[in-house]
Amino acid sequence: MGSRAPKLLHGNGNRSPINKQSTSSAYHYSSNCNPTNQVLRNLPAYVNIVEVGPRDGLQNEKEIVPTAVKVQLIKMLVSSGLNVVEATSFVSPKWVPQLADAKDVMDAIRNVQGARFPVLTPNLKGFEAAISAGAKEVAIFASASESFSKSNINCSIEDSLARFTDVASAAKELSVPVRGYISCVVGCPVEGTVPPSKVAYVAKQLFDMGCSEISLGDTIGVGTPGTVIPMLENVMNVVPLDKLAVHFHDTYGQALSNILTSLQMGISTVDSSVSGLGGCPYAKGASGNVATEDVVYMLNGLGIQTNVDLEKLMLAGGFICKHLKRPPSSKTAVALSSKKANSKL
Ligand code: HMG
Ligand code: MG
Repeated sequence: MGSRAPKLLHGNGNRSPINKQSTSSAYHYSSNCNPTNQVLRNLPAYVNIVEVGPRDGLQNEKEIVPTAVKVQLIKMLVSSGLNVVEATSFVSPKWVPQLADAKDVMDAIRNVQGARFPVLTPNLKGFEAAISAGAKEVAIFASASESFSKSNINCSIEDSLARFTDVASAAKELSVPVRGYISCVVGCPVEGTVPPSKVAYVAKQLFDMGCSEISLGDTIGVGTPGTVIPMLENVMNVVPLDKLAVHFHDTYGQALSNILTSLQMGISTVDSSVSGLGGCPYAKGASGNVATEDVVYMLNGLGIQTNVDLEKLMLAGGFICKHLKRPPSSKTAVALSSKKANSKL
């Protein structure tokens, strides 16, 4: 499920000096940085954004969002240019009632073109249900912390890897790509610091069972570049760089700096959630994911291509926030709406 865009580096001369994002120039301050600049040299020319709002975001909402609203959100996200939108989860409805309508969501987006719609599958039962509902890509989700594995999927890390091997084999038979998540890659709400060697161990297992991409999740958003760098270094020793993605929750406001650090280390797939929705019902203290709007704003500023139209993305954020009866919460939406309001004065 890795980025299908070529992994161009700024330093190899393939980067356009002018930002060609398809969004109004009023919405960003474009980069004309010298592509040979030492700091920027290793940044990718294109970043593949995996939008996780309809799954990670809505799994954590107290109120169950109606299927029609979920479907409309997904369609708006796709029309903003996002080409991977994690649509839902085929997990136990007793554990996550918010996504109990997974089959209906998949039915309703069956004919939506222009994006891939991976779904979470914790076991074979979930995998089979996902495939029957039309899923073409799935994601399995392990943890680098024993305590979190137990609280999230009710089994040890080793047992989960055995279950995921079954899912990966079934997927291979059907040529269905499998993404592998690892949660708690720097910290766990129960165990505290998680050793990078443990993350690398789980990453290698997921890679060896055939995962096409491995997303490294800072589930409770405690990471800083100081903890993210050693974790990434360990994982990169065992999994090829182009198979890695990062998934930062933003509890301490560190997500963008962690993403920039990851890009500088050569990663070019980033998970984020529209309007910063998200969290895990089984991770105490987990807050929302980094907001897609803020990621796109930063990437625009760096002159990195994403294919996402920020204005349309903000419409999707506004739509879901209106439904959830809260103001849009990405920094970008707040700043640009106050800029708009001031310009009308
Ligand atoms: P369990 O209770 O141990 O399962 O749950 P079980 O195998 O003993 O079965 C119990 C019942 O669940 C049975 O039904 C099964 O049929 C049913 P009953 O006989 O009682 O009527 N069942 C299922 N139903 C529907 N779909 C299924 C399924 N499997 C069993 N797939 C289980 C184990 C894994 C199912 C459960 O713990 C679960 O669903 N957990 C999901 C938790 C979750 O979704 N967490 C959030 C996603 S992870 C995340 O957010 C982190 C991430 O964003 C990265 C990051 O931020 O770090 C990815
Ligand atoms: Mg998450």
